[in-house]
Amino acid sequence: MFITFEGMDGSGKTTQAQLIALALRGLGWEVLLTREPGGTPLGDQVRDLLLQKNSAPMNPAAEFLLFCASRAQLVNEVIRPHLAQGGIVICDRYTDSSFAYQGFGHGLDLDYLRHILDFATGALYPDLTVYLDISPKEGLKRRAAASLFGEEINRIDEMALEFHHRVYEGYRQIGLAETDRWAQFDATRSQEEVQRAILTLLQTRAPALFRTHKTRSK
Ligand code: TYD
Repeated sequence: MFITFEGMDGSGKTTQAQLIALALRGLGWEVLLTREPGGTPLGDQVRDLLLQKNSAPMNPAAEFLLFCASRAQLVNEVIRPHLAQGGIVICDRYTDSSFAYQGFGHGLDLDYLRHILDFATGALYPDLTVYLDISPKEGLKRRAAASLFGEEINRIDEMALEFHHRVYEGYRQIGLAETDRWAQFDATRSQEEVQRAILTLLQTRAPALFRTHKTRSK
């Protein structure tokens, strides 16, 4: 099973992805937790280029293609082999981030993006997407608070508030179009509440994950 976590900066999706990975490992599953951009040696180099605050000015199409380069490497080197072995992959951000940030945020043509994303990933799309819903203003406020404790503000966090509003609207539209795999959670609730809600959803959507754990852990 391939599960992705999506949401605005500051939605807490990284923490939730880690907690769900732990819970599924506790059931005996081989869980690979990874993130975008990054997750491979090449991807981590591309991540630096994309997120460094002092990087050279970046054209939106160039930005999108760099995200795709990191993603193509991650899918082929890490995600597909793990899925082929019967494991679960949890990815912190994936193609929906490109639609939301580069498509809706920067205004790149969504049909072009889909074709190039299909090329980069071999049309691998998630079985389930956990979307943590938080308004741009609240998300950026949390991000700013976290930065006081050492969390880095990256180049994309620094985009204007209107950009983040367009990204948020993008996520809303993706959710409306992708009802089969999209599961939305209110990210302003406590960490425990959100975690419980995600686990409950998983039990309903993928009961087999919870039934087979005794045999998997042998
Ligand atoms: P990161 O520090 O990983 O932030 P977060 O914890 O919010 O995931 O930075 C990733 C940034 O890159 C984030 O601002 C979203 C952006 N992004 C895109 O614009 N397009 C993409 O395809 C991906 C994967 C990320």
